[in-house]
Amino acid sequence: MPTLVPVELPSNPYTIHIEVGVLEALSQHLPACPHALVISDTQVGELYQEAVCQDLKQTVQRVDSIQIPTGEASKSVEQAQQLWDQLVDLGTNRSSVVVALGGGVVGDLAGFVAATFARGISLIQIPTSLLAQVDSSVGGKVGINLAEAKNMVGAFWQPDQVLIDPGVLKTLDERNYTSGLAEVVKYGVIMDEAFLEFLENRVAAIYSRDPDLLAEMIARCCQLKAEVVVEDEREISGRRAILNYGHTFGHAIETVYGYGTYLHGEAISIGMQMAVELAADIGFVEDDLKLRQRQLLEDLNLPVRLPDDRRPDLLEAMQNDKKVEAGQLRLVLPKRAGLVELVAAPDEEKILASMARSTGSG
Ligand code: GLY
Repeated sequence: MPTLVPVELPSNPYTIHIEVGVLEALSQHLPACPHALVISDTQVGELYQEAVCQDLKQTVQRVDSIQIPTGEASKSVEQAQQLWDQLVDLGTNRSSVVVALGGGVVGDLAGFVAATFARGISLIQIPTSLLAQVDSSVGGKVGINLAEAKNMVGAFWQPDQVLIDPGVLKTLDERNYTSGLAEVVKYGVIMDEAFLEFLENRVAAIYSRDPDLLAEMIARCCQLKAEVVVEDEREISGRRAILNYGHTFGHAIETVYGYGTYLHGEAISIGMQMAVELAADIGFVEDDLKLRQRQLLEDLNLPVRLPDDRRPDLLEAMQNDKKVEAGQLRLVLPKRAGLVELVAAPDEEKILASMARSTGSG
């Protein structure tokens, strides 16, 4: 049975369809159209692109397929330019649909190209990594990285549909699967203590990738994300910023250590631990959440500290965060399990002192 999660945005409502096996029958769920461009990466493309394109041909008059190199380095201006050129060569127009088939990199890049080509064409997200299934494919944030800052150029461009097949996670490599779990833990800490407990009690089943558990876990994450996105689609009120828990530190880690050195979820795991340590140090949250979060992240084999001390570089990179307002760095910090707030960051000395425990220096 599928789980359907509505994303009730007034201007662009859509549904997240979660079902084991849905990838094998996409054409049954997508509307007929004249032209689809299936964009994937070399790794995911090898596994699924041919079958997906064949299936889509049942309802789409012309199906083209494009592959980009696997990895975060593809979220670049150069790769976006190459895709725009390919779309021109393939006769893409406003009746075409971009189908993003892959993990977060594919979804963000293909989504950005869909948002910008011909001032915007339809987008369907088919996420194949855990991270993309629980976070990046939902909510319309698409974009590319600059050398100085992660996700610095982008758009809000909602997909027409998100189709999630938890069955594909069976073959996802261990490191990428584990990395995605960081975003799963995030939802528990920021919004839903019962979900945090659910995860704490199911570490073994999470490890064994039990399909029913995965479907339930992904559906809960999508429900929570949809709730936030509907309240604050364009991150104006500050509500959506809570989804960035750990991300100010995490994006800085990705930038400073070089894109791809840490997978996004790995950097977010360390970033969340830096955030909770800081919150505990300044008395914003009780110490027990710090220990509880660390325990769960470690149980799930996620990293919680950096091997060396690059705190000054990290602090500098954090100033490029999109939540900086009038020169003031703002951070999402936990107040208690299931509740976070966006607050003005404390003094640099306090941040540095707190970060010391999550770096090689501590
Ligand atoms: N990944 C954070 C957001 O979608 O707002």
